[in-house]
Amino acid sequence: MNLTIIGATGMVGTRLTAEALHRGHPVTAASREPRQAGRNGVSTVAVDVGTGRSLDTAVAGADAVVLTVRAGAGHEDRLAAATTRVLDAAAAARAPLLVVGGAGPLRSPGDPAWLVADAPAYVPEEWRGLAAASTAQLHACRAHPAAAWTYLSPPAILEPGVRTGRYRRGTTTLLTGSDGTSRISVEDLAVAALDELENPGIDRHVTVAAP
Ligand SMILES: NC(=O)c1ccc[n+]([C@@H]2O[C@H](COP(=O)([O-])OP(=O)(O)OC[C@H]3O[C@@H](n4cnc5c(N)ncnc54)[C@H](OP(=O)(O)O)[C@@H]3O)[C@@H](O)[C@H]2O)c1
Repeated sequence: MNLTIIGATGMVGTRLTAEALHRGHPVTAASREPRQAGRNGVSTVAVDVGTGRSLDTAVAGADAVVLTVRAGAGHEDRLAAATTRVLDAAAAARAPLLVVGGAGPLRSPGDPAWLVADAPAYVPEEWRGLAAASTAQLHACRAHPAAAWTYLSPPAILEPGVRTGRYRRGTTTLLTGSDGTSRISVEDLAVAALDELENPGIDRHVTVAAP
C-alpha cells in the first residue's frame, strides 16, 4: 500500500511511519516541515492542512491517507476546517482516509449520555479545548458527503512506550482497564492503525486500548 501520512513528524506520525515501513508499505511523509527525507521507503512533501498547500500532490497515487495532526494551542477551532480540506483531497484521489483524532468524542464508560470531552474524570480542564476540537473534527468527517473515512480515537492516555503488538478494539465508547485507566502506547496505537488500514472494517469510529 502506498500510504500518505500527514503529520508524519509528530509523536503519532513517527510511530505510524515506522510501523508502515516495518510492514513494507512505502510512505509519503507530509507535514509543514518534513524531516524524514533520505530514509528508505520514505518520500517527503511539504503540506499545510491549514491552507491546503500541496495537499493534492501529497495524496495523489495514495492507496490510503492518514491524518494525524494536533490542533495548535489557541487554534483549536481550525482543526475541523483543516480536516474537511483533507477529506476533500482524499475523496478526489479516491483514497480512504484514517483520521487519528482524540478521545474527546468517545462516550464515557458507564454513562453513555456523556462524551469524554465533557468528563472531568478523563479530560482535565487544560485539555478541554483540544477535546472539543476532536469532537468537531469527528463532526466534520460525519458531515462529509463523499470521503471514505475512519476516525480512530486513542484512549485517554497516549504516550510513547513499548510495541507489544497487542491491543483491544472498540467503537464509540472509551475503553478502560480493570483499574479504571484508559491507555495505550503510541507504538501499539500504530499497530492498530496499520491493522485498520490493511483490513478495513465497517465501523467508522473506532478506539483501541492496551489489553
Ligand atoms: N488521548 C488523546 O486523545 C490523544 C493524545 C495524544 C495525541 N492525540 C491525537 O493524535 C494526533 C496526533 O498528535 P501528536 O501528539 O502526534 O501531535 P504532534 O506531535 O504535535 O505532531 C503533529 C504533526 O502534525 C504536523 N502538523 C501540524 N500542523 C500542520 C499543518 N497545518 N499542516 C500539516 N502538518 C501539520 C506537525 O509537523 P509540522 O509542525 O512540521 O507541520 C507534526 O508532524 C492528534 O489528532 C492528537 O489530537 C490524542
